Amino acid sequence: MNTASNNNYTHWKLSYDDHNIAWLHLDMADSRVNLLSGAVLEELRSVLDELEKFPPQGVIILSDKKAGFIFGADIKEFLELDDISQSQPFLDRGHEIMDKLAALACPTVSMVKGMCLGGGMELSLACDYIVAADDASTRLGLPEIKLGIHPGYGGTARSIQRCGPLPAMDIMLTGRAIPGRTAKKIGLIDDCVPDRQLKPAAISFVLEAPKRRRPPLTQRLLNNRLLRPLVASQMRKQVARKARPEHYPAPYCLIDLWQNYADNPKRMLKQEAISVAELATSETAHNLVRVYFLQEQLKSQGKQIAFEPAHVHVIGGGIMGGDIASWCAIQGYRVTVEDQDPERLAQTMKRARDAFKKKFKRDRRAIVAAGDRLMADIKGYGVSRADIIIEAIFENVDVKRELYQSIEPRMKADAILATNTSSIRLEDLSSSLNKPGRLVGLHFFNPVAKMPLVEIIRGNETDETVVQQALAFGRNIGKLPLPVKSSPGFLVNRILMPYLLEAVTMVGEGVPPEVVDKAATDFGMPMGPIELADTVGLDICKSVAEILSEALDMPLPDNLSAMADANKLGKKSGQGFYHYRKGKAVKNKDARYADVQTVQDRLVMRLLNESMACLREHIVESDDLIDAGVIFGTGFAPFRGGPIHYIRDAGTQKLAKRMNELKQTYGDRFQSDTAWAGL
Ligand code: NAI
Repeated sequence: MNTASNNNYTHWKLSYDDHNIAWLHLDMADSRVNLLSGAVLEELRSVLDELEKFPPQGVIILSDKKAGFIFGADIKEFLELDDISQSQPFLDRGHEIMDKLAALACPTVSMVKGMCLGGGMELSLACDYIVAADDASTRLGLPEIKLGIHPGYGGTARSIQRCGPLPAMDIMLTGRAIPGRTAKKIGLIDDCVPDRQLKPAAISFVLEAPKRRRPPLTQRLLNNRLLRPLVASQMRKQVARKARPEHYPAPYCLIDLWQNYADNPKRMLKQEAISVAELATSETAHNLVRVYFLQEQLKSQGKQIAFEPAHVHVIGGGIMGGDIASWCAIQGYRVTVEDQDPERLAQTMKRARDAFKKKFKRDRRAIVAAGDRLMADIKGYGVSRADIIIEAIFENVDVKRELYQSIEPRMKADAILATNTSSIRLEDLSSSLNKPGRLVGLHFFNPVAKMPLVEIIRGNETDETVVQQALAFGRNIGKLPLPVKSSPGFLVNRILMPYLLEAVTMVGEGVPPEVVDKAATDFGMPMGPIELADTVGLDICKSVAEILSEALDMPLPDNLSAMADANKLGKKSGQGFYHYRKGKAVKNKDARYADVQTVQDRLVMRLLNESMACLREHIVESDDLIDAGVIFGTGFAPFRGGPIHYIRDAGTQKLAKRMNELKQTYGDRFQSDTAWAGL
């Protein structure tokens, strides 16, 4: 037995068993989760020195954290990488240590249970074998692309060597995390076993040191020098559907890396470090890291209070209520959904079944369980059992008030009432209640399953506990809850509306809708404003715009009213600003306009100016929360870091000057908000 371990490490612990296998435990100090921070890596270097000096029979790396294996590198350290002179040594160090691990003479095994992401996956790939637990908590992936870089600790070359180019590039280009079974199937790991067999499996890899499986022949062929350009060009085409090279360079750099160096893994490793060192200092990477932290900030909302309702009741089984109900059932809640219209309710239940199938795919048991949790409730029996009632009926003050008066006497004493209203003042609704403090806004976005944000609206009379409960609920159902002051349009619709109306106005002036939409997607928006308006429904746009135009002095463009009144409602009616065929907008590819830059400026400036007005009025608590709300609520170009961040980046004076020019030509709606002066 080897007794050499000094065990004076802060983050790592080394112990030896009867086979003289070194068990290398990671338990990062002062952290809930394991990260491959600089300190953890440096210490690993010393551990590896020790293992080189006193070689054991084998090494098994494992985590001592309940929270999982290793979540990745410490992203905070990325923010400090301002130029290549900082980022290159940072990456080179990672490479040196991974190479050192890969070069150990004895068999090495990564024993994965829980999340194994980014740097954690790369560390595993540097081991001879990877064995993972076959359980729901275990997920493996290389999500670096989401932060504007690609794997940088050897993960590119090593994942391709293990499972071949297509599966490895797919994992890296999508950044998705996969369960152990899938990872085994594609050859990313060597085995996936039930939890209780994890240790025996790891030990047997050390003792038997089996020959490593090679990727299938077809995959090896794709790595061929002659085939690579063809495959790479297909990959570029696929990526281009989602991300443009000028906005998101990382996936393109990754494809180049593979195309240029795949037959020389050593060279590929070297070039990988060079490529990531450059990407890590880019504006895109810095902004995407910022977006990651904004997301964490939203996730941390709702931690103040524990609120786990045993029963959720949703009233209104329409587009929103139906989807909210099925989403809550998917998240594990017992839900009743009520609608006055039995036919509508039947449709709601059918839609929910489809949603369960989409979510759980072939997991029949999960589909049945979610179905059991959701009950149609035409009579509204759920009202008296629910701890939270979510109202999503017609957008009409009187109808909503009447409903509240009828249900309040049946509600549990401490149940909270949440409205999904998108435009009605909470105070106009809560005054119909005996306990107005129990009403809070829970504003979901359409489509519920896709949109990550939920605005938690604090009315003037909402009890603080109720706000905290709503935040906790938003978090528990896997959404990003954003606390927002009760005011017209709340945050997201208010900021979005001037931008949408400007787009509609331009179409009214004769700018082709295709040009308007392209100007927005060129800026980085996921969908153009005209197509968005058509998708939301022009009737809904009109009614939200009417309420906002009154409150915020924003005139309604005539063409919007005309379309809605003529029942041209957009996608749902087959005709809006675009004509729809099989649910897809028919666009004129030849549409042109002389001054596209002005089109883009008019759109973006209205959005930025309204963001500044929200900042001045403290609609949310900080400028970061404005950025978070707009990114996660509208999809605002994440690589630009959010509207307020973008203003700071682009230069306040430069933008204010452009505002002034637009004001001269297009009038007072381009008057800079007074908050510009203070930024
Ligand atoms: P919808 O018209 O699709 O559904 C409303 C449903 O409520 C209908 O099925 C109707 O039968 C039912 N209903 C009406 N009065 C009722 C009552 N007294 N008791 C039981 N059921 C009743 O409407 P949608 O689009 O789902 O909107 C619902 C709420 O969500 C509105 O407040 C709207 O402003 C808000 N919202 C809508 C969004 C959207 O994109 N559609 C986005 C965010 C919020």
